[in-house]
Amino acid sequence: MSQRPVTTDPSGEPVPGPRILLGPGPSTADPRVLSAMAAPLLGQFDPEFTAIMNEVMALCRFAFQTRNERAFPVSGTGRAGLEAAIVSLVEPGDRVVVGECGRFGLLLIEIAERCGAEVVPVKAEWGRVIEPEAIEAALQGGRTRLVALVHGETSTGVLQPLEDIARLCRRHEALLLADAVVTLGGSEVAVDRWQVDVAVAGTQKCLSCPSGLAPLTYNERAERVLAARTTRIRSNYLDLAQLARYWSPARFNHHTAPTAMVYGLRAALRALEAEGLERRFARHRLHGDALRAGLDALRLTLFGKEPPAHRLPMLTPVVVPDGIDEMRVRSTLLQDFGVEIGAAFGPLQGRIWRIGTMGYSATRRNVLLCLAALDTVLRQQGWRVAPGAGVDAALAHYASVGADELSA
Ligand SMILES: Cc1ncc(COP(=O)(O)O)c(C=O)c1O
Repeated sequence: MSQRPVTTDPSGEPVPGPRILLGPGPSTADPRVLSAMAAPLLGQFDPEFTAIMNEVMALCRFAFQTRNERAFPVSGTGRAGLEAAIVSLVEPGDRVVVGECGRFGLLLIEIAERCGAEVVPVKAEWGRVIEPEAIEAALQGGRTRLVALVHGETSTGVLQPLEDIARLCRRHEALLLADAVVTLGGSEVAVDRWQVDVAVAGTQKCLSCPSGLAPLTYNERAERVLAARTTRIRSNYLDLAQLARYWSPARFNHHTAPTAMVYGLRAALRALEAEGLERRFARHRLHGDALRAGLDALRLTLFGKEPPAHRLPMLTPVVVPDGIDEMRVRSTLLQDFGVEIGAAFGPLQGRIWRIGTMGYSATRRNVLLCLAALDTVLRQQGWRVAPGAGVDAALAHYASVGADELSA
């Protein structure tokens, strides 16, 4: 790809981009978040900062729909949050059942194995959900400390139902951990109502904050497991018991908190609160549906066999048609339109694109631009479709649902 001239700001500093981020994350950052992050730094024990911490905890409870006392961000990306939860709750030799139907299920397996767990993978075809019966069969195989599932499998576009599996976990006295990295702030993550014991998210997807914090929450069942550990938590940095004491009136001295990131997360969560959960979820459904209507009109096929209720509203996996150069499509979108969409992992590499309509990126303008750009780039490669068909179909979708109010 040819290099564009570097742009600079008025003080001469180089400025990257601009880009429209429509991949699997990061999404385009909310400008309110970026300006919050530019505020003067506070020391991490400054009363003004500890007040911000308290507000962030309350906002995390709101986002996760929980009354859990423990709800705070771990420093590090989503993976750090997952690792903090697993290394803190699982002792070597503990049995851990993990649902695997995509890249992020494999990540949970790897983390649990590294913690010395006896891992029992429950597999489904990539593009499918994990069925409760399969988890129940695994739970019947022995006393299980933790069941770990990916709520939104970003690698395949699948939304995993959790409620039935949570009931099974209670019956078998296992904890349920949900990876909500892609779903928090984009579709429902009802921690208390679904009886999820531990939920972990990220900042760079539907919260439209840069990556770098992993909001998480856990309940008293998980706290009891933490308190009853017989061996020392094998990580210092990701020790949830210590981190929880830092995120408490004790203000236990742990690492130097990334205060600017915490300002950014606060702004992202305040934006979620201002929009309201239901409106936020509806916005993700609306723009995801409009995108999918447009892709269909471009004669493209979505990946996966699950019904719409089990598909992620904010992430659309698209099969690369035969004869189309997968990588060239992405690089032309980036070069000519400034639009980033995602590639895929493992068995899906080269076979699908992943288009995200997450957080601040989930707008009518972005959906239309993405469809117009894809239409052009595909036709350049010989794809036969009526020019403008994708945009027309998306516009028709917006009109059919009377979407003006939500579709900024
Ligand atoms: C479902 C899911 N889980 C975990 C992760 C890992 O998060 P991070 O890259 O923020 O460490 C991702 C990132 O794409 C994800 O989509």
